[in-house]
Amino acid sequence: MPLRGPREVPREKEHPVKTKKLLTGIAAASALVLALAGCSGDRTGGGAEGDTEGAIVGVSMPTQTSERWIADGDNVKASLEDLGYKVDLQYANDDISTQLSQLENMISGGAKALVIAAIDGTALTEVLDQAAAQEIPVIAYDRLINGSEHVDYYTTFDNFEVGVQQATSLVTGLGLLDESGAETGATGPFNVELFGGSPDDNNATFFWNGAMSVLEPYMESGVIVVPSGQTQFEQAAILRWDPATAQDRMDDLLTVIGGTKLDGVLSPYDGLSIGIISALTAGGYSASDLPIVTGQDAEEGSVKSIIAGEQYSTIFKDTRLLGAQAVEMVDAVLNGDEPEVNDTETYDNGEKIVPSFLLESTIVTVGNYEKVLIESGYYDKGTF
Ligand code: BGC
Repeated sequence: MPLRGPREVPREKEHPVKTKKLLTGIAAASALVLALAGCSGDRTGGGAEGDTEGAIVGVSMPTQTSERWIADGDNVKASLEDLGYKVDLQYANDDISTQLSQLENMISGGAKALVIAAIDGTALTEVLDQAAAQEIPVIAYDRLINGSEHVDYYTTFDNFEVGVQQATSLVTGLGLLDESGAETGATGPFNVELFGGSPDDNNATFFWNGAMSVLEPYMESGVIVVPSGQTQFEQAAILRWDPATAQDRMDDLLTVIGGTKLDGVLSPYDGLSIGIISALTAGGYSASDLPIVTGQDAEEGSVKSIIAGEQYSTIFKDTRLLGAQAVEMVDAVLNGDEPEVNDTETYDNGEKIVPSFLLESTIVTVGNYEKVLIESGYYDKGTF
């Protein structure tokens, strides 16, 4: 496994601010418990306090078909265990009913908190009612859970900004912006096809809207042309983020646009980019004349593809930081503290605005992958 677990990354280095806050949180919780216990507490290093020691936390992840979710699950589990929790980590094979029954089992198995990366963000209302009946707090992990008031906190990246970054890297690759981000004045027209993420994942529309905020002005002025005419999210969305579905859609698009040569493809996730590049290669593009293809997650295979000059860019989201944030939220909530949030406006799930902590992401290309991915310790040196 190329991604390092949290135990291998010195925490102060990994995220000094967060680490400090986590430690401060633990210290505060510790002081509170000691006070309540009449100062008779006898702390054994690193564990959760009082009745949270040994408490079970259910961690529900969507799939193991993408490296990032495996890393997320591993990081969250290890960090919770470091704090003395027991962890029930489950992956749901991108199947909604599997995720529902795994969550029901966590609740009946005595979980004291749930961390959930939803497959379908609208399908969890009833199971969250069950969690609420047992007073089990719920942290939405990376993907917002919609249609339930029982979502206590949300930790994710700035998803609109991720879309902005994807489209910014696309137009940079096309030559519309230079490396400093300044307009070059190029007029194209550039032929670009658009892909969106899974329509049941709340993030997908954020990515799309962020990307469109960059691309639309170029589309309106005719500098970017979408030869298929498929410019709506509903036309571009790929259910369950499935690479094979993206490959099929790219095949179909090549048929629809005939001999028109593509200059770019907006892809919102590395797995889709792999499918898209396979279709392009099968459709006659060679490695040297592939269009500019974007991505997300800095997955190992896609970073290799970027180094090989096939995929152009990806977006790095440091899952170590996301995991640490989720663990901090769980630990705070279970110790009666308020978790730190930095956004109380953006994530309206239809029932409430879920208090959120948003992290930042980074565009990765062949020019900076060593600095961003290797020097940060996210990947081992020998990976690429
Ligand atoms: C995540 C992305 C990921 C996608 C597919 C989204 O919810 O935010 O990082 O690429 O799911 O797994």
